[in-house]
Amino acid sequence: MTPANIQVWSKKGVEFIVESNAGEAAGFSDELYKDAGAAISTDRSEIFAKANIVAQVQSFGANEINGDDDLAHLKPGQLIAGMMDPLGSPATAEKIAKTGATAIAMELVPRISRAQSMDVLSSMATLAGYKAVLLGAGLSPRIMPMLMTAAGTLQPMRTFIMGVGVAGLQACATAKRLGGVVEAYDVRPAARDQIISVGAKPIELDLETDSSEDKGGYAKEQGEDFIRRQQELMTAVLAEQDLVITTAAIPGAKSPILVTADMVKAMKPGAVIVDLAAERGGNCELTKLGETVVAHGVTIIGPDNLAATIPHHGSQMFGKNIETLLEHLLDEENNLTLDFEDEIVFETVVAHGGDVPHKRMRELLGYPAIDLNNSIDLGESVDLDADDDTEQKEGGAS
Ligand code: NAI
Repeated sequence: MTPANIQVWSKKGVEFIVESNAGEAAGFSDELYKDAGAAISTDRSEIFAKANIVAQVQSFGANEINGDDDLAHLKPGQLIAGMMDPLGSPATAEKIAKTGATAIAMELVPRISRAQSMDVLSSMATLAGYKAVLLGAGLSPRIMPMLMTAAGTLQPMRTFIMGVGVAGLQACATAKRLGGVVEAYDVRPAARDQIISVGAKPIELDLETDSSEDKGGYAKEQGEDFIRRQQELMTAVLAEQDLVITTAAIPGAKSPILVTADMVKAMKPGAVIVDLAAERGGNCELTKLGETVVAHGVTIIGPDNLAATIPHHGSQMFGKNIETLLEHLLDEENNLTLDFEDEIVFETVVAHGGDVPHKRMRELLGYPAIDLNNSIDLGESVDLDADDDTEQKEGGAS
C-alpha cells in the first residue's frame, strides 16, 4: 500500500505498521508512511504478531525469500492477502490453513465488473504490456515510427502482439502511440473489436475458435491439433515482423507454445521477441526466463516480473487494489466480514478456519467437495479497533 492508501484507512481508525523500507524502491520513504499515520517496524515477526490483516505483494507461495518465515508467523484468525501463486502451488493453501489463518490469494480475484478495482493481475498486466514494448523497441536495430528525413525515409517498425488480454491490449496501444505498424492476434473472437479500438489491426487465421473462451473470460486450453495448425499459419505472419510480443497465458496451466524454433528461424534477422508468458514456461520454444537468447539473428527475452521494474506506478495500482479489497471486507466499525455467498470472497479465500474452502483448490488438492455455507466455521468477527491484539476472538473472521 502507498502512503495515500494508508491515509484513507488511518482516517477511518485502522492502525498500520509498515515494514521499514517497504516502499523505498517505489519512491515512498518511511517518512511518507509516518506522515500518513503508520508506525514503522524493522522487525518482521513483530508485524506478524501484531497485525490482524497482513497485506503483502508476494506472500507465502509466491515469495521465495521470506515466504517460509512468514508461514511460521501466521496465527489463527489473522488474514493475509497477497499474491500466492495458488494454482501453481496448491499446497500453499493447505499449509496456510493448518496455521488457522485466513488467506486471500489476489491472483484469484474474479473477472467481474465490481471486482475490477481489486484485480492485481490486470494492474500488473497493464504495466507489463507497456514495458514489453519499450524493452523490445530498445533491443531492436530499428526505430518505431516512420520518419521522412532529408537522409531518406525510415519505415516504421512492424509490431505483432500474440494474445490480446490486458497486457496484449496495452502493448498494442503503446506500440501504436510510438508510431509502429501494429497487428495482433488472439484466440478469443471477442478480442477482435478490442484490437481495433486501440488502432491496431486484427490478424484472422482460418481456425475454429468458437469455444476458445470460458465463462470467466479466460482462454481455454487448446488441443494439440489447434496449436499445430496455428503455428503453421502464423509462420508467414511472423516472418514479416520486427517486434513480436507474446502474452498468451492459460491460468494454472503451462503457456502454449505459439512460436517454435522453426518459426524463429523463418523470422527477419534483427527481429525481437518479448515473451511475457516466460514465467509460465513461455510462448516461444527458445525463451529462457530472465535471459536474453539470440537465435538465427533473432533476440528473444523472457522477462521475470516485469511490473516490478515500474515500482512507483506498480505500487500505486497494487495499493489501490488492496485499499479497495479492505473496503469490501471491512464494515463501518472496521470489523472484518467474510460473506461466503459473495463471489469475490468464495473465489479468493483459499484458507479459512483450518480448512481450504476454495472449490478449485479443493479439486487440485484431491479434497472432497463441501457446501461452503454449511461447512465453514465463520467464527467471530475481528474488531480492528481493539488496542490489544489478544482481544482478537478465536476462530477468525465472520
Ligand atoms: P490472460 O493473461 O489470461 O491471457 C492473455 C491472452 O492470451 C488472452 O486474451 C487469451 O485469450 C490469449 N491466448 C490464450 N491462448 C492463446 C493462443 N493459443 N493464441 C492466441 N492467444 C491466446 O488474459 P487477460 O489479460 O487476463 O484478459 C483476458 C480477457 O479478460 C480480456 O478480454 C480482458 O479484458 C478480460 N478481463 C476482464 C476483467 C474484468 O472484467 N474484471 C479483468 C481482467 C481481464
